[in-house]
Amino acid sequence: MANKEDLFKKVISHAKEYGYVFQSSEIYDGLSAVYDYAQNGAELKKNIREYWWKAMVQLNDNIVGIDSAIFMHPTIWKASGHVDAFNDPLIDNKDSKKRYRADVLIEDYCAKIENKIEKEVTKARKRFGDAFNKEEFVSTNPRVVGYQEKMNSILSRMGKSLEKEDLVDVKSLIEELEIVCPVSGSKNWTDVKQFNLMFGTKLGASAESAMDLYLRPETAQGIFVNFLNVQKTGRMKIPFGIAQTGKAFRNEIVARQFIFRMREFEQMEMQFFIKPGTQKKWYEHWKETRLKWHLSLGLGKENYRFHDHDKLAHYADAASDIEFKFPFGFKELEGIHSRTDFDLSSHEKFSGKKLQYFDHEENKSYVPYVLETSIGLDRMFLAVFSNSLKEEELENGTTRTVLKLPAVLAPTKAAVFPLLKKDGLPELAHKIVNDLKWDYNVIYDEKDAVGRRYRRQDANGTPFCITVDHQSLEDNTVTIRHRDTMEQQRVAIDKVKEIIGNEVDMKNWLKKIN
Ligand code: GAP
Repeated sequence: MANKEDLFKKVISHAKEYGYVFQSSEIYDGLSAVYDYAQNGAELKKNIREYWWKAMVQLNDNIVGIDSAIFMHPTIWKASGHVDAFNDPLIDNKDSKKRYRADVLIEDYCAKIENKIEKEVTKARKRFGDAFNKEEFVSTNPRVVGYQEKMNSILSRMGKSLEKEDLVDVKSLIEELEIVCPVSGSKNWTDVKQFNLMFGTKLGASAESAMDLYLRPETAQGIFVNFLNVQKTGRMKIPFGIAQTGKAFRNEIVARQFIFRMREFEQMEMQFFIKPGTQKKWYEHWKETRLKWHLSLGLGKENYRFHDHDKLAHYADAASDIEFKFPFGFKELEGIHSRTDFDLSSHEKFSGKKLQYFDHEENKSYVPYVLETSIGLDRMFLAVFSNSLKEEELENGTTRTVLKLPAVLAPTKAAVFPLLKKDGLPELAHKIVNDLKWDYNVIYDEKDAVGRRYRRQDANGTPFCITVDHQSLEDNTVTIRHRDTMEQQRVAIDKVKEIIGNEVDMKNWLKKIN
């Protein structure tokens, strides 16, 4: 798999070919930045959601989960700041008539500088061999230091201008960097304008009485407005958390990169309610805890990094992203935000209802501070899927395409094959499927030669293939083949469930976090 673009194209086409992700409304030529999860994709997504839910809710006795409605009272979005501040800075190219996010144009420019740094590192690694020390090289090589300084100064100026809403300076920066439109190649730009990302809709039958609503742009507000209900009915004591997963909607302007940036997507969020003044401690705690969750899946430590924000959202006093190395480079996968008491205080003001907690130890009431962890389920899907797709050269000179999904997340845990479609082998294979299906998603496959069936399951991400042959009828054994090593073992049929369980059971994976 040659360059980044080819790799990403391969990911998208594999997702379609093997029933993971389809373009929405494909027979009508699709709907931009909207996708459907297919038979395998829905299972993978469900498994990721469950892995998150168990780690956050089931294993923490001070975190509970809810499922709030997508439709919410419109004043909520006024209170949360989304009506006034949930905007993207947009700029149009007058020649191509194409619209871009001004900050993305600048970030793309910086990504090119980052690529140059990576190239210098690769060259130096080749030159110095085993003696190469990356940290020392990037902090002392004059060319790399120069690139780094240039990038930092651009990003810091952009951050400050956006924070001050100085859109004139954002345009000046684009002009000074001589950024051109990727379509027309011209520098003929309009002024930068703000554009609200929320989708509007209506509630009610008649035009006169209909109420203007928004589709929620984040699930978090459903948690904030239920804070007191949950605290009281669950008799929760601070610190405690409320988690939920669900759909969110944003009218994204730069909606490309497949399921990375969608208009309808799913979030997995947790608000952790804490005593004011303790936010720094909890911010560090949740950064570390969430990174551990990611690392437990074994996608490679080197593929994650933190990015602390210069430009803070309207609600935050500190924020960091966990970035993942997607096929198109390091990008945000999850956000950890210290949201202060912004949301609860604002809902108090707008609703006229007290949203306070009586702290028995302190003997006083206060509006709790909030630490938030927020991850996009679709982005997590893309991280897992793209990282798992490999093309391997085999010893016999052929190649195989294999989807090395973490076994705990794989949609199908095992495929059972009769070696031949006769002599009672299908019957025994069906019997094994019927026994395993109470615990795991398993499939039966008798079509084509066994070698082809193995390849099909490799590409599908199935961790185990179980083959029934004539010996099975005599001694009740089967061969079990491991996807990643392609090793085959002869095992007793009554041991198969245990062997699968050791590798796929969620508790074995979750124990790595705790
Ligand atoms: N409640 C805080 C919040 O919504 P955010 O950084 O805007 O923060 C959190 O979003 C996460 O949701 C992101 O880290 C990303 O994984 C995911 N996300 C945001 N916009 C998305 C989109 N358009 N498509 C897919 N995932 C998205």
